[in-house]
Amino acid sequence: MPTSSVIFPSDFVWGASTAAYQIEGAWHEDGRGESIWDRFAHTPGKIENGDTGDVACDHYHRWPEDIELMKRLGLQAYRFSIAWPRIYPQGRGTLNRAGIDFYARLVDALLAAGIEPFITLYHWDLPQTLAEGAGGWPARDTAYAFADYAETMVKELGDRVRHWSTFNEPWCASFLSYQLGAHAPGLRDEKLAVQAAHHLLVAHGLALQAMRAINAGIKAGIVLNLWSIESEEDTPASRTLIERTWQHDAGWFVDPLLHAEYPLLAWQERERVAPQMQPGDLKLIAQPLDWLGINNYNRQLVDRRGQRVQRISGSEYTEMGWEVHGPGLCRLLTTLHQRYPLPPIHIIENGAAFKDVLLPEGHVHDPRRINYLREYITALREAMQNGVDVRGYFVWSLLDNFEWAYGYSKRFGVIYVDYTTQRRVIKDSGYWYAQVIAQNGITE
Ligand code: FCB
Repeated sequence: MPTSSVIFPSDFVWGASTAAYQIEGAWHEDGRGESIWDRFAHTPGKIENGDTGDVACDHYHRWPEDIELMKRLGLQAYRFSIAWPRIYPQGRGTLNRAGIDFYARLVDALLAAGIEPFITLYHWDLPQTLAEGAGGWPARDTAYAFADYAETMVKELGDRVRHWSTFNEPWCASFLSYQLGAHAPGLRDEKLAVQAAHHLLVAHGLALQAMRAINAGIKAGIVLNLWSIESEEDTPASRTLIERTWQHDAGWFVDPLLHAEYPLLAWQERERVAPQMQPGDLKLIAQPLDWLGINNYNRQLVDRRGQRVQRISGSEYTEMGWEVHGPGLCRLLTTLHQRYPLPPIHIIENGAAFKDVLLPEGHVHDPRRINYLREYITALREAMQNGVDVRGYFVWSLLDNFEWAYGYSKRFGVIYVDYTTQRRVIKDSGYWYAQVIAQNGITE
């Protein structure tokens, strides 16, 4: 247990994150269109336990209470996503005013509470209409529809919201969704995945241009899921392997965004399924970023044969089977900083799922989550001391919620949600995090 204090710069921002489909519910209300996640979750066999986001945390109706809880935690910022099908039920065309109004009310209430909104425009809930036939992200047209939607949102809320990100984890929205089949739309086709990834990046570039044309004062970025990739032994072969793994996953997005090129090794290996591009795409993708959001939960370990190491003895693992290893966050950030011209960074998601139990007297004791957060926040401070420009930290998640293919079986919140009553209970980790915010660091 560390005993020394870890204090952050006075302008450091402490927040919490959620995403629309995971918390809102009200999937069919006030003109919201169907999304690929509604379709996926309503398809038997896709989600653990047959769970869906139909009701989720009912945040669509309970947001005032949720803002009160944010106030109790002392949050300085709140990152959430907009459900595109609430704004354009068909993906494009007719605007649904009720959808805009919902987010406008939320933003106004956050600002009144002194909480800065950070908006993510796409956290995976593509309007189903855009996905029909040969559509979805493998179709270039989807990128243009996204840019129009992004422009609309900045027109509507850009006067009040400074921090915007286009996409959350484009790796998940492409490879996990189109090649590995685990997320909507649940396809298994590498070529489609690579094409989807390219169009997500193109959509990001187009959107940034459109958003800035409306309001040059916004801070626009993107959120990537990044891991430090490590090997149990340091040999030339393991170094090559780490590089290959990086290029295939994270580098496939980071390099186009920050270097205006796909990483060479992975490109050569994916030649057979290379994306169709138009002249100028790489330049378009590499728009200057005002900030980069990073989601980090664990590191990735590879063995000498290049296989993923699932478990190593002596390490602790969360309910997701993810290793608890804070130093990996420090190494990730430090390596990134050495390798790329980074914009300011916000850790936009970090947290852990554990088996939480609501005790009859209304407490949730979750010391393992506290330890996890302590370890990662400490490592984050160390990375900053190594020269990485990190401006904020957001815990995943504010509330227990719909954890995608795992349904409600994984609890990530610092606030417990009883899904039968929708009662919220601040966990011990929530009180601990409130103290971190109040003290601007860890002092115990
Ligand atoms: C990230 C997602 C987020 C949540 C966490 C646990 O990949 O962005 O929605 O599911 O994992």
